[in-house]
Amino acid sequence: MDTRVIRVDPVNPDERAIAEAARVIREGGLVAFPTETVYGLGADALNPDAVRKIFAAKGRPGDNPLIVHLAGVHELRRVASAFPPLLGALARRFWPGPLTAVIRRGPAVPDEVTAGLDTVAVRIPDHPVALSLIRRSGRPIAAPSANQSGRPSPTAAVHVWHDLNGKVDLILDGGAAGIGVESTVVDLTAHPPVLLRPGGITLEELQEVAGPVRVDPAAEGMPAAGPVRSPGMKYRHYAPAARCVLVEGPAEAVVSRLASLVRAEREAGRRVGVLATREGAPAYGAEKVCVAGSRRDPAEIARNLFRCLRELDEAGLDIIFLEGVEPVGLGLALANRMRRAAGYEVVTAGRGGSAAD
Ligand code: TXA
Ligand code: MG
Repeated sequence: MDTRVIRVDPVNPDERAIAEAARVIREGGLVAFPTETVYGLGADALNPDAVRKIFAAKGRPGDNPLIVHLAGVHELRRVASAFPPLLGALARRFWPGPLTAVIRRGPAVPDEVTAGLDTVAVRIPDHPVALSLIRRSGRPIAAPSANQSGRPSPTAAVHVWHDLNGKVDLILDGGAAGIGVESTVVDLTAHPPVLLRPGGITLEELQEVAGPVRVDPAAEGMPAAGPVRSPGMKYRHYAPAARCVLVEGPAEAVVSRLASLVRAEREAGRRVGVLATREGAPAYGAEKVCVAGSRRDPAEIARNLFRCLRELDEAGLDIIFLEGVEPVGLGLALANRMRRAAGYEVVTAGRGGSAAD
């Protein structure tokens, strides 16, 4: 059976739509909803059966824990048992917003949510639809990104429909998600805190409030060497079905290297796609070029990155090149997503020649 879709105004969400979605949550069902980062797939975080449905719908490995979404800091006590001193300062500065804090879990949180860890990841999303749904349902809402496991996160309701139609009860269509990449995940149980996943809040912003922050290698988008602190980081993710290669380095070197890689692949008779910046795009004579945004505006690239990955994936290409961006500010989150989409197949341009090709 097709999943029901209800359109909601993202600024003033219709009461009836929210009431209906809240009913589904309370009855143990699954609701996909927009947040300021990407669409989430929500269930009652305190209902283990409901949470198990999330894993089944997404095909998500059971050892990858979920983020619990709250409507306000007063609800933290329902899901957490200890509050690190830094949490208050981070909450004041970044909540509601795209920061996820990993803290000690409370006894009410089922193992299904935390994958058996003694910590829980929490955030307060900055989106009227998400906030009214949490408030109206009266439940903390566990929600991963609403994509099929391994696919790019959904930034529009149509992406959710494409991946999960028939597997979830309801999709609230509130238009485009804002930021386009997921929240920043920071482990506050460690000293200094550890950046586990770069996202909508930049490392630089985080450091302004938190002081020194250790950066987990997985947050850079590097393959894990030892034990993984954030289980989600060890899985191949965002990856198109076609072979995918990321070209990194100084902008000019990236563009010229990428242009010659495209030429070589086309001469070999292969169908080539490129995820490009607006500045780089004219240099690439590929079958399909998706312009994600200006190199000078990483926020624009963030809004379009996952949509471009989906479009390139659907274009039936043999190989896809990603034009890398500088890994600073929001660019760190972009580099992390691109490295993982490329399955860590990275060509470094400019620094005296070839690295990985
Ligand atoms: O922006 C977002 O964070 C979106 C929206 C829907 O809120 N959600 C999202 O969830 O991206 P998901 O499940 O796709 O990613 C959650 C990440 C995973 O990498 C997971 O391993 C990590 O957070 N995580 C969750 N609980 C954790 C915990 N207790 N300790 C360490 N990492 C945790
Ligand atoms: Mg995800």
